[in-house]
Amino acid sequence: MNKLPSRPKPFAPIREDSRLKNPGRAAPEIRVFPDEDSLADFALSVWEEASRARPFAVALSGGQTPVPLFRLLASRPGLPWSATRVFFADERFVPPGHPQSNLRLARETFLSRLPIPGQNLCAPRGEGAIAEAARGYESALRRLMAEWGREEALFDLVLLGVGEDGHTASLFPGSPLLEESVRWVGAETRPSVTPPRITLTLPAINRSRVVLFLVSGEKKAGILRRVAADRDPSLPAALVRPRAGRLIFAADRAAASRLG
Ligand code: 6PG
Repeated sequence: MNKLPSRPKPFAPIREDSRLKNPGRAAPEIRVFPDEDSLADFALSVWEEASRARPFAVALSGGQTPVPLFRLLASRPGLPWSATRVFFADERFVPPGHPQSNLRLARETFLSRLPIPGQNLCAPRGEGAIAEAARGYESALRRLMAEWGREEALFDLVLLGVGEDGHTASLFPGSPLLEESVRWVGAETRPSVTPPRITLTLPAINRSRVVLFLVSGEKKAGILRRVAADRDPSLPAALVRPRAGRLIFAADRAAASRLG
């Protein structure tokens, strides 16, 4: 195995692409839907649009909110699965078959029912030393993105959720990972987060053509207002701001009830 880069070289500053309809940081788009099913239908339409890219590089989140979308995807064998490369915005540092594994959730809800080659899945290892697993995931990401000639926009779509504390992926409030400006992957090993996790960092997430937050339920109404409307910088989810892509907050009515 090639020697892992001791420290990834800082990638070139992003040229603001004037062809994009929102050069620079796109203002957040907020879309509200009557219920979880219509929210999932919208998310599917965003996925279908983004999947025209070749390859189609998508990063998934865990949690329960994306499950209705995952179940819709399971019934779409006609999507370009052979050209779809699945990554993970974060993963719990557990073996692949563990009940808390995001890879297991994705496999069980849709990936195992679709014609997607196994080598199209790229997830962090969940065993061994977490720092080494994070570096290995970053190395695989950098290799693939270089192979595809991607610098400004790495992912075509990143699916994210919002925790009640304002975390997203596995970027939690107060985490030193929020200061990371070079690495694309980090390990969250603080005792307050169990199990430990491996996560994309903001430099990686913010290099996406589309970031789609899916938020549902009354319990998320307060935090969604602080993240999507107030853009409270103390909250990791509010720090997600694609430099040259779309930022979409899609919520059901219950979660959007405090957006005014
Ligand atoms: C994870 C997710 C995490 C999730 C939020 C929201 O691995 O758990 O990446 O960031 O998106 O905690 O979870 P729900 O969708 O279950 O509310």
